[in-house]
Amino acid sequence: MSRFWKPGTERPQGRVVDDEEGGVIFLSGSHHSSSSSGYGHASIDKQRQRLPVFKYRTAILYLVETRATTIIVGETGSGKTTQIPQYLKEAGWAAGGRLIACTQPRRLAVQAVASRVAEEMGVKLGDEVGYTIRFEDVTKPNVTVLKFLTDGVLLREMMDDPLLTKYSVIMVDEAHERSISTDILLGLLKKIQRRRPELRLIISSATIEAKSMSDFFQMRFSSALAIRKRREPENEGHGLQVEPAILSVEGRGFNVQINYAEEAVQDYVQAAVSTVLLIHEREPAGDVLVFLTGQDDIEAAAQLLADEVHTNGKHSSGLIVLPLYSGLPRAEQELVFSPAPRGKRKVVISTNIAETSLTLEGIVYVVDSGFSKQRFYNPLSDIENLVVAPISRASARQRAGRAGRVRPGKCYRLYTEEYFLNHMSNEAIPEIQRSNMVSCVIQLKALGIDNILGFDWPASPSAEAMIRALEVLYSLGVLDDDAKLTSPTGFQVAELPLDPMVSKMIIASSQLGCSEEIITIAAVLSVQSIWISGRGIQKESDEAKLRFAAAEGDHITFLNVYKGFHQSGKSSQWCHKNYINYHAMRKVLEVREQLKRTAKRIGLVLKSCESDMQVVRKAVAAGYFANACHLEAYSHNGKYKTLRGSQEVYIHPSSVLFRVNPKWVIYNSLVSTDRQYMRNVITIDPSWLMEAAPHFYQLQQSNPLLR
Ligand code: CDP
Ligand code: MG
Repeated sequence: MSRFWKPGTERPQGRVVDDEEGGVIFLSGSHHSSSSSGYGHASIDKQRQRLPVFKYRTAILYLVETRATTIIVGETGSGKTTQIPQYLKEAGWAAGGRLIACTQPRRLAVQAVASRVAEEMGVKLGDEVGYTIRFEDVTKPNVTVLKFLTDGVLLREMMDDPLLTKYSVIMVDEAHERSISTDILLGLLKKIQRRRPELRLIISSATIEAKSMSDFFQMRFSSALAIRKRREPENEGHGLQVEPAILSVEGRGFNVQINYAEEAVQDYVQAAVSTVLLIHEREPAGDVLVFLTGQDDIEAAAQLLADEVHTNGKHSSGLIVLPLYSGLPRAEQELVFSPAPRGKRKVVISTNIAETSLTLEGIVYVVDSGFSKQRFYNPLSDIENLVVAPISRASARQRAGRAGRVRPGKCYRLYTEEYFLNHMSNEAIPEIQRSNMVSCVIQLKALGIDNILGFDWPASPSAEAMIRALEVLYSLGVLDDDAKLTSPTGFQVAELPLDPMVSKMIIASSQLGCSEEIITIAAVLSVQSIWISGRGIQKESDEAKLRFAAAEGDHITFLNVYKGFHQSGKSSQWCHKNYINYHAMRKVLEVREQLKRTAKRIGLVLKSCESDMQVVRKAVAAGYFANACHLEAYSHNGKYKTLRGSQEVYIHPSSVLFRVNPKWVIYNSLVSTDRQYMRNVITIDPSWLMEAAPHFYQLQQSNPLLR
């Protein structure tokens, strides 16, 4: 591999094992060469006791007993997520009908971890151990005591139970990820603790970046302590220490040798595939973990590897290629965790979910593209995008660390060392500072937090983003002149577990008499994609799509697909024949039912408009007016401008309106590659915009296009 690969020379402070040998970095704790980890036939109890966190069991329980907040830092795979909740239960924290919660930023991690813990405890998932993610509640009242959930779901629970009274301990896991919901949750938990001193918090994290977390809670505690001294001196007798404790779990990672690309890589999918094949050809046994960015490039790489196995069997036989991304069917998720059969090499191609949220046993080689999908928001143009962007050095180190779990490993970085050292940022920016704040503002408002700018954030969002959000919510009719939730619209929007624009669309549909249709559309928009696509079947899938295509655009096309699916008796063969993702359609049915229930509960009228598609488009406009665009006059290449901000955008090739280019459209989301592409596009009449949001478009009133 020497032609392409160059060993790295980085000397990370304090973590160098061998100064003489370039590129060997030691990723965690003490290095001992025990062969105890990995697959074994040991009983579950033995396996549990071998995890690094086990040695700290007593210490952790002692800290939780005596401190309001405990911060636990430990290398990925040390057992934080799967073990600590069990320790708490064993120590009696779930007695008396109380629950122990463990939050994760990612849904897939919630499911995977809950099912692992249920297995370890020998119980049925959904009984003592359960999980809740949006649109899926696998818990039983009065039975479930360990509950895994996304941080977003816990935030929603606060709307019904602001002090989260049913929980005795809340473990906020993966805090280093700094997801927007984690940050909001931490800010709120800080407030809750002031009212519920008996509540225990555990904040767990894979990196020392948790230091900033501790500072955040430290500050809170010094002020809380002062308050308590003044108001309730008797509390001090309880022996509860308010200073947060930090406990660091020494891991047992092995050395990982870092190799860099000699020169910049043009196509990281192709480069990743070639690297996997090289590893397979030249390196001894051991599984491979490849970090790409999302379903599309993961499926593309998996396909390329499969083709290789097919055409060039003798070099690549013995490879088992498995994709891993959110939205993957359960059965396929499970394959990722099961060990490869003897003599076979597993290649898992993953998003950054495998960076710290999930531990895969048996990984010895990591291939790091250097990219991940990240959210970026520009308050000036009011555009939020999921962009494929370079990861931080901290992430790159985490990814490399995944190779050192069972024995010394190797990491192949598909970028140069110069790039790593000089162009990657040290740490990622917390998501809250690069997100649209609309959902966040509405949640805080619904929880009665009025002074949002003065809220105690772990990292403050920008004032511009905040102002933009207030403006959009005002235009949606969710906030009134005093920036309070309107009744009923504001409260209804807050109740629906959706982006406020989708919620508003649903509320408008109730008034317009097309809620059945709009709820179907909202359900389709909540799954990643209902189409099956991929290299090699593009033509067939495009043709299949044409069978459903509606002149009005993608949303109406979804209704046609849903109708066809329903008429087929929800048949999987029908889906297969039409290049429609059966799994996604099942999910659509499920989400649809849930949304209908919530809609009824908040007093919306469920009604179908039969074939009147104009009202459906009006309802879409009522929610998504802010995403209106018009085709540039004389544009032959399909260039649109957003009405607000005049950003240049194009219709995405996956849209049924691609190349049709109607004059006025509204999009659902943007994806940015070489250009900004609009996904899920529908035609509108511009006069509806003024109707839907006079305030928002008042500046454009003089715009002759809008009259
Ligand atoms: O949270 P942390 O990264 O510290 O570790 P963990 O997720 O609790 O993982 C502890 C052990 O459980 C590892 O050996 C994982 O491989 C294993 N595990 C598993 O086999 N299947 C899962 N779904 C989750 C964890
Ligand atoms: Mg974990």
